[in-house]
Amino acid sequence: MFNKRTRIKELLGSEPKGQEVTVMGWVRTFRNNQFIALNDGSTNNNLQVVVALGKFDDDQLKRITTSSSLKITGNLVASLGKGQKMDLNATSIEILGDCDAEKYPLQPKKHSLEFLREIAHLRFRTNTFGSVFRIRHALAFAVHKFYNDKGFIYMHTPIVTGSDAEGAGEMFRVTTLPFDEGKNKTPRNEDGSINFKEDFFGRATNLTVSGQLEGELAATAFGEIYTFGPTFRAENSNTPRHLAEFWMIEPEMAFYDLEDNMNLAEEFIKYIIKHVIENNKEDLEFLAQRLAEEEKQLPQDKRSEMGLIEKLEFILNNNFERITYTEAIDILRESSYNKKKKFQFPITGWGMDLQSEHERYLVEKHFKKPVILSNYPKEIKAFYMRQNDDGKTVAAMDILAPGIGEIVGGSQREERQDKLEQRMKEMHIPIEEMWWYLDTRRYGTVPHAGFGLGFERMVQFVTGMSNIRDVIAFPRTPGNAEF
Ligand code: 4AD
Ligand code: MG
Repeated sequence: MFNKRTRIKELLGSEPKGQEVTVMGWVRTFRNNQFIALNDGSTNNNLQVVVALGKFDDDQLKRITTSSSLKITGNLVASLGKGQKMDLNATSIEILGDCDAEKYPLQPKKHSLEFLREIAHLRFRTNTFGSVFRIRHALAFAVHKFYNDKGFIYMHTPIVTGSDAEGAGEMFRVTTLPFDEGKNKTPRNEDGSINFKEDFFGRATNLTVSGQLEGELAATAFGEIYTFGPTFRAENSNTPRHLAEFWMIEPEMAFYDLEDNMNLAEEFIKYIIKHVIENNKEDLEFLAQRLAEEEKQLPQDKRSEMGLIEKLEFILNNNFERITYTEAIDILRESSYNKKKKFQFPITGWGMDLQSEHERYLVEKHFKKPVILSNYPKEIKAFYMRQNDDGKTVAAMDILAPGIGEIVGGSQREERQDKLEQRMKEMHIPIEEMWWYLDTRRYGTVPHAGFGLGFERMVQFVTGMSNIRDVIAFPRTPGNAEF
């Protein structure tokens, strides 16, 4: 058996009493031919390995370079030096993989996040990305724990679909049809349009933008379900908050109205934040420190009022502000920002779609806490949202988070078949193709609601990373699908 190792995180939490242990990991630094800082990814803290002078061949010591991989056995003893509690006195060192120090792109010094994106295949080996991805894991685990403990069923909804759940047309086509004009021509109908009957699935298909519609089918049998999977949007948004491939958690609940939906979303967000505060203290402290340093570069008025951990604790201890879209428009219209024409998009009045600058004004300047906005004009929301009695608004809700903007989008669903079909007609949603969706309204329809939490935006919020490309391992954005 090869892998009989102890993780460094575990060792650093134990008492050094001379016990023999084996560790495996990558060299961060090798000082004075004597001190190896070894990292194995379980924590940002390195284990100091002491290489006694004269004990090992010079040829072997030369091969101990930054990021070479080692298997080391030794005795764990209390450290004589300052800065660490324990040392591993090496008795055997096996070099598992050499690393040419001249060529290795990740030198042991500070690199910009932009540069690290270009070497995303190696950036996990930095402290920042170590912390971010351990927290990402913890958040994902907490998502499953939260819903499992509440009795929700985890549904795996399809990635290839024929429908556009959001009706926004931002889909990536999935096809095996040829698209050259030569011998191997794209099959076409008489009117010149592409003949998708010849395609792999015998119809046009795309990557899913949301698992919601299938989630609704399951919720109207199991009661409460959630999805957690990748979703795809071909929107050409080059911003620090948009990805073409992102992960979304979408709970869908029968017998829930809009208020039940908001309560669940707020409880859920607080739960997963609490899980990270309780389980990832060390990584959070590291990221809090990193963020504080980063913010020192910013002008005073651009800095956050709270540190990262303080901000997360504030979220746990305060209720989210709940206001309607109509109230939000009034606040924005009357704001000094609007009057002084500080918005790029001025507040034109009721009915306008809110831009992220407006959302951020509400959470960061006005309320200084997360805000749940509800009851939006039906014209700016999806076809499936429940129509309110006023004839103008739908039972939608978005949650806006400080520094992020929209983190959750959801609604109560239109469960009344006639109203739903009428809205689909108005919005040119293909009713015949969606026969299966409408069947839930035909056969034992129930009031139900759900929402989608953008997982990467949540990871951004918890880690304080300002660019969404730095919280997903291999970001897909317009013009970029490297790795
Ligand atoms: O508001 P959206 O589009 O809502 C839906 O997809 C619904 N079907 C959800 C539901 O009710 N089940 O997206 C939900 C969330 C947004 O609030 C945002 O956090 C995230 O998904 N999101 C993105 N995250 C990263 N990159 C993008 N391009 C995103 N688009 C949406
Ligand atoms: Mg939305």
